[in-house]
Amino acid sequence: MKIAVIGTGNVGKAIGGSLVRAGHQVTFAARDADKTKQVASEVGASAAVSAADAARDADVIILAVPYTAAEQVAAELDGQAAGKVVIDATNPIKADYSGLATESGGSGAERFAQLLGGALVAKAFNTLLAGLQADPTTHGTRLDVLYATDDPAARAAVIDLASSIGLRPVSVGPLAAARELEALAWLNIRLQMIAGGDWRSTFVLIGAPAGATAA
Ligand SMILES: NC(=O)c1ccc[n+]([C@@H]2O[C@H](COP(=O)([O-])OP(=O)(O)OC[C@H]3O[C@@H](n4cnc5c(N)ncnc54)[C@H](OP(=O)(O)O)[C@@H]3O)[C@@H](O)[C@H]2O)c1
Repeated sequence: MKIAVIGTGNVGKAIGGSLVRAGHQVTFAARDADKTKQVASEVGASAAVSAADAARDADVIILAVPYTAAEQVAAELDGQAAGKVVIDATNPIKADYSGLATESGGSGAERFAQLLGGALVAKAFNTLLAGLQADPTTHGTRLDVLYATDDPAARAAVIDLASSIGLRPVSVGPLAAARELEALAWLNIRLQMIAGGDWRSTFVLIGAPAGATAA
């Protein structure tokens, strides 16, 4: 698949690198052009000059940017997300890491869906810390990608991409369930912060219903 990854930080590089190793064609975009070229070259991907440029020929767009940049990134995509699958891997965490910026209601994923009119949005990968996105086999067991979407094409894309890098896709329901996925990710992040963890903890749903893991 042709994938545009917006963001070249911990998450962008980790997911982008894993997808390249799985045989996908990845193009990065971020603000810093030199870093974008460097990260692309390190993982065997391409670098675009803008988010819109990366997204133009992509089948799937992955958002790996700070939630605070949502409006800016949506504007930078310049209509290129319409009709395309957009996977939102972000977590809407407040800048001071005191909680979720969405605590008054809604989810970051639903906000992106509003901002990116016509995009086929799925929430996925946000509950996996970057180290596990980079190396999904690190625990010696198949890890879960919990995902939420209303759209069949987005569902198919998440299943394809997650499976291709050795993860088990688990559907948790409609896009509105992104609220719980974002809360779950925050629970894990806060735990890591207060317990001084090694940033490798994650959730695996034991006994998941067959309907949630069906391809
Ligand atoms: N770190 C984790 O383990 C983890 C796990 C799951 C989800 N998340 C979530 O994933 C997102 C990214 O996390 P991260 O740790 O990868 O952050 P990060 O290392 O700070 O990287 C953020 C990336 O976003 C880019 N960016 C910022 N504003 C942009 C804009 N307006 N247009 C295009 N690109 C822009 C930055 O580009 P420049 O460098 O060019 O400025 C950078 O490449 C966050 O929402 C985070 O909550 C993080």
